[in-house]
Amino acid sequence: MRGAMRTDVIVVAAGSGQRAGEGMPKQYRLVGGQTVLRRTLERFATHAGIRRVLPVINPDHADLCAESVIGLPGVLAPVAGGATRQASVRAGLEALASDPPDLVLIHDAARPFVSARLISDAIAAAQSHGAAVPALALVDTIKAVPEPGFLSGGPNREGLRSVQTPQSFHFALILAAHRAQIGRNDLTDDAAVAEAAGHPVAGFAGDPANVKLTTPEDFVTAERNAAADLTDVRTSTGFDVHAFAPGDHVMLGGVRVPHEFGLTGHSDADVVLHALTDALLGTIGSADIGHHFPPSDPQWKGASSDQFLAHAAKLVREAGGRIAHLDTTVICEAPKIGPHREAMREKIAAIAGISPARVSVKATTSERLGFTGRREGIAALAAATVRLPWID
Ligand code: CTP
Ligand code: MG
Repeated sequence: MRGAMRTDVIVVAAGSGQRAGEGMPKQYRLVGGQTVLRRTLERFATHAGIRRVLPVINPDHADLCAESVIGLPGVLAPVAGGATRQASVRAGLEALASDPPDLVLIHDAARPFVSARLISDAIAAAQSHGAAVPALALVDTIKAVPEPGFLSGGPNREGLRSVQTPQSFHFALILAAHRAQIGRNDLTDDAAVAEAAGHPVAGFAGDPANVKLTTPEDFVTAERNAAADLTDVRTSTGFDVHAFAPGDHVMLGGVRVPHEFGLTGHSDADVVLHALTDALLGTIGSADIGHHFPPSDPQWKGASSDQFLAHAAKLVREAGGRIAHLDTTVICEAPKIGPHREAMREKIAAIAGISPARVSVKATTSERLGFTGRREGIAALAAATVRLPWID
């Protein structure tokens, strides 16, 4: 029966994130290299029980939202939210009403760690009860604040629960309930809206990991959690060669190195950046530099190779990955690399968006053997290590 039920999700993301501090609204801040909104949308978009995912946003942030949804399946064009969370949810419900689902899940964008188990349980609970919320028993004792700075009494926590999202409903029930409660501003969640319209609300087991990112400290913890998720560690290699030609400098690792020759190539012939780009692309199985930037394409003629490495780093981030290490060995008799090593580390790090401590630059001659030994050109080896979420 469950397969026959159409379930859509509304992800409310129109708030301003006042309590989280910093300039950027919290749903667009990065955690583990991805926006909070993308992390949240992805959890639903990749769940087999979900048909469509609707983001509700502040239209001023349409560009940030567009970047956050690239490549995610089943995500609808965002709709504009309102001045309160309740108004934002209602905007989402009205937008779905032209092609209504049977069930709807309503979720805060600020909860990016929602699990597949919680999503499945929310769907099942809505089917059984019409209105349901994930709930947690309280672990702390609750006190009242009779006057600022003082505490007293407080309710018995046995009879209390803290509730999370996704809250789940029969679509027609919650749409009607929201329409009936327009103008109230004391209803802080959808369970309260359903209840105010006279519907009993069931509880199902919430998840302590499904936190709502609210304060600056929450972001510190979230960053740690996101890094702990990246258990798929991959290393790939890259290799490149360019021949010497008349000139007065070579580009190596994005640094201009004076030399009695230049290097030939379609772009700026930076063997180091090319080898590193291939190594990075290898970690996500995304072909090679020639595939992404064909030498036959005139737009790459004379191009600065920064953009090749930056593109590969962006693809890794879009796959949810983090670059742990970039390593390169330059093979040539001359020029000497040592004097330029630190500048190259810093440049490579800046292009890839990582710390210079994660970049290593080495060099060797080939003892006058082979083409590098005959000073016919320069070769570069590279290795990239990337940490990705484990997805089978
Ligand atoms: N929300 C919304 N529209 C509003 C207010 C809030 O869509 N007018 C969304 C937020 O984007 C968030 C969720 O509702 O995903 C829960 O609200 P909250 O955690 O309070 O987020 P903010 O209101 O953005 O944060 P703050 O209260 O700290 O300003
Ligand atoms: Mg708020």
